[in-house]
Amino acid sequence: MTSLPTLPKIKSLRVKGLFGYKDIFLEFKDVTVIVGKNGMGKTTLLKLIHSLLINKTDEYLVSICDFAELSLTNNESISFGGITDDFKKNLLELSVNERIEDLKTSNKKLKITKEMTKIITDMIFNDVDVSNKINDTLKMHKDAIFYKEATEKYIRNELKIRYISTVNISFNADNNIDVGNSISTNLLDLATDNEMRSLLKNNNQLYRDAFLKQINVMLNDTNKQFFYADNEYWVYDENTSKRLSLSQLSSGERQLIYILVTAANIGDSPAVFLMDEPEISLHLSWQEKILDALRKINNNMQIIIVTHSPAIVMNGYMDSYVDIKNIITRNNHG
Ligand SMILES: Nc1ncnc2c1ncn2[C@@H]1O[C@H](COP(=O)(O)OP(=O)(O)O)[C@@H](O)[C@H]1O
Ligand SMILES: [Mg+2]
Repeated sequence: MTSLPTLPKIKSLRVKGLFGYKDIFLEFKDVTVIVGKNGMGKTTLLKLIHSLLINKTDEYLVSICDFAELSLTNNESISFGGITDDFKKNLLELSVNERIEDLKTSNKKLKITKEMTKIITDMIFNDVDVSNKINDTLKMHKDAIFYKEATEKYIRNELKIRYISTVNISFNADNNIDVGNSISTNLLDLATDNEMRSLLKNNNQLYRDAFLKQINVMLNDTNKQFFYADNEYWVYDENTSKRLSLSQLSSGERQLIYILVTAANIGDSPAVFLMDEPEISLHLSWQEKILDALRKINNNMQIIIVTHSPAIVMNGYMDSYVDIKNIITRNNHG
């Protein structure tokens, strides 16, 4: 594998006023597995990270928290619901025009109003501490996500972001669609097929081999083997000596293939791989192996998992374990 310059990863997440009364602080590693019971806010947490990364400024973020900030390892940040102290400090070191430019480029949706210009001008010429006023103004732009232009470019052009929700996978697995020629398939198999075709086309043999090796470690449990040749791929069932297509496999097998091929397709890119309850449909032994398989297929990506199942970390990933109870605190405001 080529050695890459160190590109920024996600360092931490700070959330204020989650559901109006909770705060969160969480530090990420290369692999972070957040474990908690139903209704603890795991899916919400993952969606929040995803929304910040993809700059999805819809009602969703506004409805679930007052403020959220993802810090990156290069000390830049992505924030929602106001500017951060770091951002403010940087702003104070600039001239009026630069301050306005910086605010503008930090969020293209934010219109720098006359009012805002006046506030910033006041801040310099009258030496008034108007940071509260700025925050008030920003509160009117509650749906704005702030980041520096360079960070935005990095995320848009270089960072690959994958959000894998097993709930969606299960839904898609049962959802049949007609793709023409009287062929009916389901969304999961269609998505898997897309990923497979892209993997088979890809020139990078390394990731293809890694995928094949890891999927076969898993399929070995049920005496099956994954094969590909030219543009075709299939699973050979040693019990029946038959070739099986995707649609003939169990939901756990299909889910696993989808997850692993998606990881392989990320290739050398820096990436954030978000997974919501990957354990659904997987028996215990696969739950224990999935992280190892993912890491062996692709070592570049940062993995963030929310799950019910501590089994996910059992096979060598105890350091990645985070109990959701230890990162959420009840705040005093609610
Ligand atoms: N806007 C909201 N305001 C207050 N509570 C909410 C809101 N949205 C979700 N919740 C709470 O969050 C819980 C669901 O969180 P979720 O992230 O789906 O949990 P998990 O994935 O851990 O099961 C719900 O049980 C509900 O109590
Ligand atoms: Mg959930």
